[in-house]
Amino acid sequence: MPHHPVHEYDVLVIGAGGAGLRAAIEASSAGVKVGVVSKSLLGKAHTVMAEGGIAAALANTDTRDDWRVHFSDTMRGGQYVNNWRMAEIHAKEAPDRVRELEAWGALFDRTPDGRILQRNFGGHRYPRLAHVGDRTGLEMIRTLQDHGIHKGIGFHMETTMLTLLQDAGRVIGAFGYERERGRFQIFHAKAVVLATGGIGRAFKITSNSWEYTGDGHSLAYHAGAALIDMEFVQFHPTGMIWPPGGRGILVTEAVRGEGGILLNKDGRRFMFDDIPPAYRNQTADNEEEGWRYTQGDKNARRPPELLTRDHVARCIVREVRQGRGSPHGGVFLDVSWIKAKLPNAAEHIKKKLPSMYHQFKQLADVDITREPMEVGPTTHYVMGGVRVDAETQMSDVPGLFAAGECAAGINGANRLGGNSLSDLLVFGKRAGEHAAAYAKANGAGQINNAQIEKAERAAMEPFERNSAVNPYQVQEQLQDMMQDLVGIVRREEEMLCALDRLRELRAQAAQVVVPGNREYNNGWHTALDLDNLFTVSEAITRAALERRECRGAQFRDDYPEKDSTYGAISFLIRKAADGSMQVSREPIPELRPDLKQIIEEFK
Ligand code: FUM
Repeated sequence: MPHHPVHEYDVLVIGAGGAGLRAAIEASSAGVKVGVVSKSLLGKAHTVMAEGGIAAALANTDTRDDWRVHFSDTMRGGQYVNNWRMAEIHAKEAPDRVRELEAWGALFDRTPDGRILQRNFGGHRYPRLAHVGDRTGLEMIRTLQDHGIHKGIGFHMETTMLTLLQDAGRVIGAFGYERERGRFQIFHAKAVVLATGGIGRAFKITSNSWEYTGDGHSLAYHAGAALIDMEFVQFHPTGMIWPPGGRGILVTEAVRGEGGILLNKDGRRFMFDDIPPAYRNQTADNEEEGWRYTQGDKNARRPPELLTRDHVARCIVREVRQGRGSPHGGVFLDVSWIKAKLPNAAEHIKKKLPSMYHQFKQLADVDITREPMEVGPTTHYVMGGVRVDAETQMSDVPGLFAAGECAAGINGANRLGGNSLSDLLVFGKRAGEHAAAYAKANGAGQINNAQIEKAERAAMEPFERNSAVNPYQVQEQLQDMMQDLVGIVRREEEMLCALDRLRELRAQAAQVVVPGNREYNNGWHTALDLDNLFTVSEAITRAALERRECRGAQFRDDYPEKDSTYGAISFLIRKAADGSMQVSREPIPELRPDLKQIIEEFK
């Protein structure tokens, strides 16, 4: 046995955001020994960036809502390439998961008669997002932490995983290091749940903080699991664009849910210019009706700002490219205009959007109750991830489970806002339950020392090389390149060029040098994250090249139409025996007739 500390668990959860915590709570409730590792400090998860609410058909604000409408909205938002069984489970189970969170102490805004208040969000037919102001993700994390901390779960903060340990084809733990002192750690477990979140740091402009380098995606890929839907990267339409240090920080969709409108430099509400046919009969064609919708008029149609994120982001890009953008290259988002409608507008905005008020006041010196914000798209979420079984969340590799953003399926080509928080709860719970069951049914595997020694040697290499290549520079070049060549608008020649650049940058990464020692050495951490960033960047590019059509978040300038040839297939990414990345097609199973009928009914 190598000389590193060994932590023994039945279930190891990698990631301490909403999905990881919910999985850990569930596994622990099943009576098994659970450990959670978090790359960062507990509480600092991208979950908090889902600010505007948790989507669940509670039907508190509009009694016409139910799981069937939520299911059909999710499928339509995902342009029908979703894993429909996951979309069904999600829509059915989300209300119970929200009520459970409430029972565990989560605070929500309330209807006048004391029920959980729900607000409008893009692509949701009815007001569906249970929320607390614009801090819903934060409240969710707080509640899960408070609940989970009493369960005897072992927490390992500031610990990064480098590889999954395997024995006889199954995953039996993970090997990594704690970031503060740089000491290696072995986690021996009967089942592992990946809940590491997204890949936003593969792009230059992102709402994701430094942790989100596709670690879970990459760990799973190298362990032999398939990734799916990697071409679908969500660019949230509204991130801050000014000042430069705040670029990419999320501006919650709740601003638009509360009546915020998008304007170009000429003051024109450009979202009225392009309403997709599938949404025409549900979208207001005048300002007054859109306003009435946001104020709860059940006979009014939604404002065009509440169309799906992929569409809104592309409309913003169009305005900017055609010279109608704001001074810093975005557009204006104005919620202050509601003072013309509400006498107490300033207080109302501060109450509904407290974080946005402070964010703009402090970072940009903009008072959103009086002035418009400048916003533009920001890389926010990846729909693609580890392919999992809908019922159990287990990947293709026995003993390896995944939940939350690093798992794929439920969202198809585009995720509706608010579905991430309910996804974390629904599938986090399922992953924890099934990982615990797996751990009970299987003994501990045998740790392979050679695998650990190999991973350790690779991790130490940046200290031993003799070159001048800097990991930060490689990372920056990668982010710039992905933003330019595989961003919101894609073309074949640009993506082929991206693959060439990836090869060159990988070669540079193999030469990066890090000075100093392992004690809190951020250059070393950055060097070790690079392989994950390359893996997900290549997967995104290869899948996006193969899907020669526009669908949801995948917008191909060179194939500007949706193509039914791609309407029932997913692209799978796997590591081949020679180490290369392979893309293959997989048919999506035919929709169950009862679900087909639901979709027809709500079309
Ligand atoms: O805009 C937002 O508040 C983000 C929500 C989400 O991504 O689900």
